Amino acid sequence: MPADSTDGLPVESLERLRLRRSAKWRTYDPDVLPLTVAEMDFAIAEPIRDALRDAVERSDTGYGAPEPVLGEALAGFAERRWQWRLDPGAVFSVTDVGVGVVELLRALIRPGNTVVISPPVYPPFFQWPAEAGAQLREVPLAHDDEAGWHLDLAALEDAFRQHPAAYLLCNPQNPVGRVHTRDELEALVRLARSYGVPLISDEIHAPLMLAGATFTPLLTVPGAAEVAVSLLSASKAWNLAGLKCAAIVSASSRMRAVVDRIPPDARWRIGHFGVIATVAAFEDGEPWLDRCLQTLSRRRDELAELLATRLPTVSWRPPAATYLGWLDCTALGKDDQPQQLFLSKAKVATEPGLRFGALGSGHVRLNFATSSDILDVAIEAMSRALP
Ligand SMILES: Cc1ncc(COP(=O)(O)O)c(C=O)c1O
Repeated sequence: MPADSTDGLPVESLERLRLRRSAKWRTYDPDVLPLTVAEMDFAIAEPIRDALRDAVERSDTGYGAPEPVLGEALAGFAERRWQWRLDPGAVFSVTDVGVGVVELLRALIRPGNTVVISPPVYPPFFQWPAEAGAQLREVPLAHDDEAGWHLDLAALEDAFRQHPAAYLLCNPQNPVGRVHTRDELEALVRLARSYGVPLISDEIHAPLMLAGATFTPLLTVPGAAEVAVSLLSASKAWNLAGLKCAAIVSASSRMRAVVDRIPPDARWRIGHFGVIATVAAFEDGEPWLDRCLQTLSRRRDELAELLATRLPTVSWRPPAATYLGWLDCTALGKDDQPQQLFLSKAKVATEPGLRFGALGSGHVRLNFATSSDILDVAIEAMSRALP
C-alpha cells in the first residue's frame, strides 16, 4: 500500500523502507528518519526492474560489457531530452562519477597542481583532487537575493589566471539545486579557453530538472568541446547508485586524448547490473522519469508550504533541480548545530551543512525524494524540536 495518497510515484510505508539495506537506511539508528544521502524512496522504474530481474533469472551476472550499448543509449537520451547530439563512440564508461573524476584528474595533473571548486558543493569535491595528488583552491559561489547562488565569474577569472590543472563544475549544483544558465556557461568556457583551464563537468543530476528549469549540457556550449569533458549517469535520476555505472563524454580529439590516458583496466571495473540498468533507464525510462519529476516538483512545493507554516525561522530558495533542499537554519545555530538539534531532538537526519564547505555553517541539506506523508512527519518533528 503506497504511503503517498497522490497520483505521484508510489513510496512504500516507512516500515517497508526500513527493510532496505542501502546507506540511507543503515547509517542511523532505526528510530531516526533519514532524509540524508541522495537516494530516492520511490519504487524503481519498471523497465529497470524487469531488465535486472531478467538478468538474475538467466544468471547473467558476469562482467559488464558497456560498449557500444551505453554510448548509444546515452546518446539517444541526450538528443531526445536536450537536443544534444553526442558521439556514442566518444562515451567512455567508468565505475561511477567519483572514479571518473579522480581518473580524469590523474590524467590532467602533475604533482603540486591545483584544482578549483566552487562551494557549497557535493562533499567529495573537496576530496577528489587530493586523491589524485592535487591541491585544492576554493572559489565559492556568489549569492544574491535575486539570482540566488551562482558562479562567481570574476573570482573564477582570478583563479584561472594562476593556470590551475582543472576546474570542477557541478551542474546542476548539489546542494543548492542551481542550474547554471547558458550565459554563465558560455562565460565560463570563454575563461577556460583564454587561460587554458580544462573543465570537468559533473552532470549527474542533469535529468532531474524540476518544473520550470532547463538544462544546458556544457558540451553544447560553443567552444566547450576543446576544453571540457562531462560526466553523466543514470544513478541519481533513477536511483541506481549501488549498481556502479557512469559515463565520461568528450567531444574533441584534444579532450579524448585526456580520457584515453585513463588505464584500460578501468573498463573491467564497471558493474554489469549498472550497465544493464543504465541502458534500460536511458532507453525506456523516460515515462517514469517524467512522473518522477512531476512528483518531485510537487514535493518541492509541499516542502515550501511545510517550511513556511511550521518552520518559519528556516529559510530556503527552492531548488531548480535535484531533490535536495538547502535549508538556511542560521537562526537556529551555527556550524552543524541545526543538524545536531534535528537529529537529537526530532530524530530526523539531514546532511550537516559544513560538509559542503564553510558557507554551509548553520545549514542542513534535506532530501525530499520521499512521500508527502513522510515529509510531513519529518517537518512536524523538526518543528517540535525547536527550542
Ligand atoms: C554532484 C554529485 N556528483 C557525484 C555523485 C556521486 O556519484 P557516483 O555515485 O556516481 O560517484 C553525487 C551523489 O550524490 C553527486 O550529488
